[in-house]
Amino acid sequence: MNPVLVSAPSNIALIKYMGKIEGSGNKPTNSSLSYTLENLKTFVRLTQIDQGEDQWKPLVRPDLEHLDLSERGKLRFLKHFSNLKEKWNINATFLIESANNFPSDCGLASSASSFAALTLAAAEVFQNMNPQIWGTDKKTLSELSRQGSGSSCRSLFGPWALWQHEYAEPMGLELTDMHHIVVVVEDSKKQISSSEAHKLVTTSPRFEGRPERAEIRLKDLVNALRFNDWHLARQIVWDEFVDMHRLFETSTPSFSYMTADSKQVLEDCQNFWTKWQDGPLVTMDAGANVHMLFRQDQKKSFADYREHFAAKYKVLAFEGVKHDVH
Ligand code: PMV
Repeated sequence: MNPVLVSAPSNIALIKYMGKIEGSGNKPTNSSLSYTLENLKTFVRLTQIDQGEDQWKPLVRPDLEHLDLSERGKLRFLKHFSNLKEKWNINATFLIESANNFPSDCGLASSASSFAALTLAAAEVFQNMNPQIWGTDKKTLSELSRQGSGSSCRSLFGPWALWQHEYAEPMGLELTDMHHIVVVVEDSKKQISSSEAHKLVTTSPRFEGRPERAEIRLKDLVNALRFNDWHLARQIVWDEFVDMHRLFETSTPSFSYMTADSKQVLEDCQNFWTKWQDGPLVTMDAGANVHMLFRQDQKKSFADYREHFAAKYKVLAFEGVKHDVH
């Protein structure tokens, strides 16, 4: 059988998944909404091998970055693959190779794109072995991917994905092909993984009411985007990541991803907004880096922000690409 090569993009949540239902296979305590990052991709190649156990190796290709998964990362990836095999009654053994088209040392999480790509690659290769897999719908694949890594279930759709309960679905919003900047203020490995963060936040007194706050913001954000109210959309997106980071800071034990540099970048963004009364949507994940999304017509401002932050920090900047609607 020929090897199968599949890629999947990363995504950035504007309404965050933070907190999961214990023992549910990553079912979230609130809905989340993400924008798909078509420029940041993981590639997975599956090759059937004769014997032994499934193995993982970095995918070596001149256009891709070298990926060095930790022992824990490898086991988690292999476990997801073995769960998919079990679910679809597959007995064959595979070599799994993967790599990203973005550097792994820049503090950008690749679990969303890598688990989505692995799920899609498995479905593609296994359908030759089990005809029942033919035509498995994207919702089912999203649900399966979620069980490997929660946020990966949104990476199967784009440009917008809404995840409620079991799986994600595409969300029709006109805003597309946005420019994206990540100001990389910290590229070392996180002290607290997002899996740990999901658990710790439930100890925060602010966790009470968090699902409700997220659902209200989701509704308000979708309306703001539908009615092109960029000011309001920006404010909601800002309040949302601040809410998530406050959960971290008020957990027991309390923790924080914000560094002095993150705070400086955020302050600069606020000052630019006050000055120009326009600017990007700004958000942060469970990490120190700051993401910015610009509308297509903000190309000049995208270039200005890039120049401003690149003078002091590592900056990754991607011009908006035409999204495949999927
Ligand atoms: O999918 P996980 O378990 O890595 O959680 C991701 C959580 C955040 O990135 C902080 C928010 C989100 O919705 O992507």
